Amino acid sequence: MDIEGLKKQSTSDLAKIKNLADLEQYRIKYLGRKGEITTVLRSLKDLPAVKRKKIGMETNELKKDIGLKLFKLKNQLIEEETKKKERKIDVTAPGIKISRGHLHPMTLIARKIEDIFQSMGFKIVEGPDIETEYYNFDALNIPKDHPARDAWSTFWLKTKPEKLLLRAHTSPMQIRFMEKNNPPLRIIVPGRCFRYEATDASHSHTFYQLEGLMVDREISVANFKAVIEEFLKKMFGNDVETRMRPSYYPFVEPGFDIEMKFPSGEWLEIMGAGMVHPNVFKAVGYVPGNWQGFAFGVGIDRIAMLKYKINDIRLLYSNDLHFLNQF
Ligand code: FA5
Repeated sequence: MDIEGLKKQSTSDLAKIKNLADLEQYRIKYLGRKGEITTVLRSLKDLPAVKRKKIGMETNELKKDIGLKLFKLKNQLIEEETKKKERKIDVTAPGIKISRGHLHPMTLIARKIEDIFQSMGFKIVEGPDIETEYYNFDALNIPKDHPARDAWSTFWLKTKPEKLLLRAHTSPMQIRFMEKNNPPLRIIVPGRCFRYEATDASHSHTFYQLEGLMVDREISVANFKAVIEEFLKKMFGNDVETRMRPSYYPFVEPGFDIEMKFPSGEWLEIMGAGMVHPNVFKAVGYVPGNWQGFAFGVGIDRIAMLKYKINDIRLLYSNDLHFLNQF
């Protein structure tokens, strides 16, 4: 009986085991009812007593040793196979829906307005949210103590020596741009504005405007009307109903307001506008007699309200997903 040979053979066979099926074959080969170890143990009774004890002990040792190694190896193989299964992709499994973000209605509208004006040759420029008193008022022909300042309820910032404020409209960019550029020019300025006023369905303390400015040798109210009609038709379709009413802004002469009809029949003011005042041209160093221009400031929120039939401006700033998910 060659126990040493059996030991060597079983060790080298063990090293060849790759999976649970191999392991089962191995178990049958050595420990099965007709297996090598079992056969040795069965034949012990035929051996002389002296040999029987020694070989019996050695074989039982070997049996215990193989059993222990198989137990460990089995656990290890089960773990590896489970991991492999986990890594497998089941292409028939139903997918997990990824919820994607989308643009805010105000962004959608601002981009649409910008596209329309760009198609008419207007360039987009932007300005600061924090302005000086000079750009927000003085240079726009609204000197200190002018009653028209009340029309822009202003958030003043506590700053010295210069008085700073949160811009109440986008018109300061008319000045900033003309100071640095010569006519002819065509610009639009989208931007956030702030007013110290109570909120209601059509007013917010923080809202968006889009300023427009066109300056050239011979610009008239007719040019303004043509540009605005083109804008509103592209935005709302050919049936859009608008009206132009005389209005007053110190930085234009004449000045007007443009209103649009809501489906309910109500009129909503969407923009202030007019022909650039000579004092504004003077403030930026243009010779007033040489240049003419129109300017307008349209409320982007109001356009969004009309376009999407939103009856309360506050919905645009509520971050309510029931509302936002509709866009
Ligand atoms: C102005 O702010 C002028 N700068 C517009 C202008 C520009 C006139 C160039 C002439 C030449 P007004 O205060 O009317 O004007 O505001 C213009 C538009 O901004 C309004 O028609 C409205 O659509 C919007 N708007 C004004 N205040 C608010 C507010 N509190 N909430 C939401 N939208 C507002």
